[in-house]
Amino acid sequence: MMKLAVLMMLPAALWAETGSEGWLRYTRTNSAGIPDVVTVLGDAPAIAGTTPTMLASARREIVRGVQGMAGKTLRAESGIPKDGAIVLGTLDAIRKAAPEWRLTATIAPDGYWLKTVSSNGLRYTVVTSSNDRGVLYGAFALLRKIQLAEPIDNLDQREAPYAPVRWVDQWDNLDGSIERGYGGRSIFWDNMHARADLTRAGDYARLLASIGINGCSINNVNANPKLLSPDLIPDVARIADAMRPWGVQISLSIDFGSPQSVGGLDTFDPADPRVAAWWKARTDEIYRAIPDFGGFVLKADSEGRVGPSTYGRTHADAANVVARALKPHGGLIFYRGFVYDHHMDWNNPKNDRARAAYDNFKVLDGKFDDNVIVQIKNGPIDFQVREPASPLFGALEHTNQAIELQVTQEYFGQARHTVFLVPMWKETLDFDMHAKPGSPTPVKALVSGKVFQRPTGGFVGVVNIGFDADWTGNQLSQANLYGYGRLAWNPDLPSKEIDDEWTKLTFGRDPKVLQVVSQIQLSSWRTYENYTGPLGLQTLTDITGNHYGVNVEASERNGWGQWHRADDKGVGMDRTVATGTGYTGQYRPEIARMYESLASVPDDLILFFHHVPYTYVLHSGKTVIQTIYDLHYDGADAVEQYVRDWKSLNGRVDRDRYTEVLAQLEYQAGQAEVWRDAVSNWFLKASNIPDAKGRVGRYPGRTEAEAMTLDGYTVAAVTPAEDASGGKAVSCPSKTCSASFQYDGPAGTYDLRVEYFDQNTGTSHYRAFVGDRLIADWFAELRLPSARLDSTSSTRRLIHGVALRPGDRIRIEGSPDGRESAALDYVEIVLPH
Ligand code: GCU
Repeated sequence: MMKLAVLMMLPAALWAETGSEGWLRYTRTNSAGIPDVVTVLGDAPAIAGTTPTMLASARREIVRGVQGMAGKTLRAESGIPKDGAIVLGTLDAIRKAAPEWRLTATIAPDGYWLKTVSSNGLRYTVVTSSNDRGVLYGAFALLRKIQLAEPIDNLDQREAPYAPVRWVDQWDNLDGSIERGYGGRSIFWDNMHARADLTRAGDYARLLASIGINGCSINNVNANPKLLSPDLIPDVARIADAMRPWGVQISLSIDFGSPQSVGGLDTFDPADPRVAAWWKARTDEIYRAIPDFGGFVLKADSEGRVGPSTYGRTHADAANVVARALKPHGGLIFYRGFVYDHHMDWNNPKNDRARAAYDNFKVLDGKFDDNVIVQIKNGPIDFQVREPASPLFGALEHTNQAIELQVTQEYFGQARHTVFLVPMWKETLDFDMHAKPGSPTPVKALVSGKVFQRPTGGFVGVVNIGFDADWTGNQLSQANLYGYGRLAWNPDLPSKEIDDEWTKLTFGRDPKVLQVVSQIQLSSWRTYENYTGPLGLQTLTDITGNHYGVNVEASERNGWGQWHRADDKGVGMDRTVATGTGYTGQYRPEIARMYESLASVPDDLILFFHHVPYTYVLHSGKTVIQTIYDLHYDGADAVEQYVRDWKSLNGRVDRDRYTEVLAQLEYQAGQAEVWRDAVSNWFLKASNIPDAKGRVGRYPGRTEAEAMTLDGYTVAAVTPAEDASGGKAVSCPSKTCSASFQYDGPAGTYDLRVEYFDQNTGTSHYRAFVGDRLIADWFAELRLPSARLDSTSSTRRLIHGVALRPGDRIRIEGSPDGRESAALDYVEIVLPH
């Protein structure tokens, strides 16, 4: 207690935080109007033996929050106290205990009502709902209000979630690794079993509950069939126990071949009664152990997963056989719309992966049972930096749907880059699909079942948090999880409001902090798009590799179908009905017309829909090629500015998170430059059209490592060539090597940018000297996903404020470690900003 009091007197800058509390930090704030008592009415476990219940969690959270924010411990009672109090309970329970309050309202399941009641001269802060989960959400909403310094003395706020399904998927493997996870190892699994200590799973469920998430799938969509073997069900049940107190139902990803691979049958044909019986028996067994089990997620006939096509059956046949096993228990099956052929012939200009979801599912509309939800990725390809809304959203009228958003930043810099995704998601959610005449039919309304009166539907976010203290691997990336939850609750919330809320809760209410964080976050998607793949090119990353570094051609000439068809004359996929793949025809006519015509297609998506010459003039008045150059420079400059902006917060954010975010943004600024140079040089080479501003291919102040005097270092070609400046690097085959050059510019103080390669096969040591003076000393110790010399391992070391005179010798010394070769790309000498 004493320790806490001392801590609270320290200025923010000295108070170190890890980010583990997320947005639930409950720091000291104005406590006016907070009563001294909390009471819970009508608490009883819905599932025998469940401790704590959701109402108990709500009470504990209120006590914890008030303790942090007001520094007082609330007295807990169980009836209506003779003091003002926070009263938690369902509307039924409150009406029974205090009929004189005459509380009447219709509250949707999971919705809540925060209501101030004055009675006998006392003031009660009522948190109520039609169900326990809603009360829990109301408790979090009340605490959020207090932390945001909003008044709570005269409340009358009723909220209902926009959709019943607000789920997250975790792509965790049983061995504890996570597919496309960037925040550490699995909080659920380790060594083929549930972790012995599932505290962190409970903590995660608490974070999810605070933003209204009610379901979580706990294993990879590329599912290990072992999960359905009887000996793992107790493990799954333990995870369910850890999350249940927070109202988070769990579900499992399944492998469609399971009846054969773990069930011992000689088939998994969905039309075979033995297969149906197997799914039923296995599902019944799960529900015996986990009565509130949510259901299954199924990826079938996609990227090598088996599916109904083995037996000539349809996706509806596959979904329904599982749906019928779940139906008696109230379970749902999320059938993924992400089905495509990854062996498509690149040479056929009519082939188009973007068509796949619609082509597969439109014909089945109306054939799925009522507890099937088709889970559709936001765009038709795969979480690229910009895609149009999937046409399937506007095509299904008799089928439940959910939108799948990727919260984990697979194609968005893998949490080493800050990219706030809420504005992008909102663009899709608000996009009018023109699915029904008369009124707008935005994607959000379609997926939540409002347009065609579907019984269920909503939102699924692929989150993939891990064991790292900050959950996501980057403090600023937490905003994506927060924002996803808030949008799933209410997609009408503006991006800025969501970001401001998150910032205030996460970093405090200092207006300067708010302004800087919001400036960075709200522009970050556009910035990332600019330095990766603008104009609808999609993320120009290594599609067949790590999905992180640059590799412009990796998406071409293979079966994966993420093509952009760039050659020496032009670029872009012709997806028109008139001359291309016909994809635009999958949209309703109003939208089809807009995308079909060059006159109306937005610049942001032009190369997604059309193949045009590099000299084609956009609506902006600029050519395609000059736009590619300019946007890459804009993007890289913007990240440099983020670094400067963040630095202005020194002393206003706690020390550890300040330093961590600064390091992350400085790294990102270096990477943005790598991307800028790689993509712009690739297009310069392809188009042979120079940058009108003379920047591409000319780098004043840069000395290539291969042009330096080398002692021990040898020159290595880098592939793809655009991944290194000049296409080459130097690497060290011996114990220690050095590369040096003479400085011939004017005397002054400069910043040095040393571009080196941090492979993941060792920890090389570097030292930089001017003459004999050591100016920097560092290790290549980042966790980057590459063993090679490429744009992924390419990393920038900034050395600030170096005094240089003409004739000075600059020398970089590298000592390799393991199989890492202490490689270097260049040194750039620039004036300090
Ligand atoms: C992406 C991702 C895969 C994932 C797949 C899916 O392609 O790279 O790791 O399995 O999406 O959504 O199923």
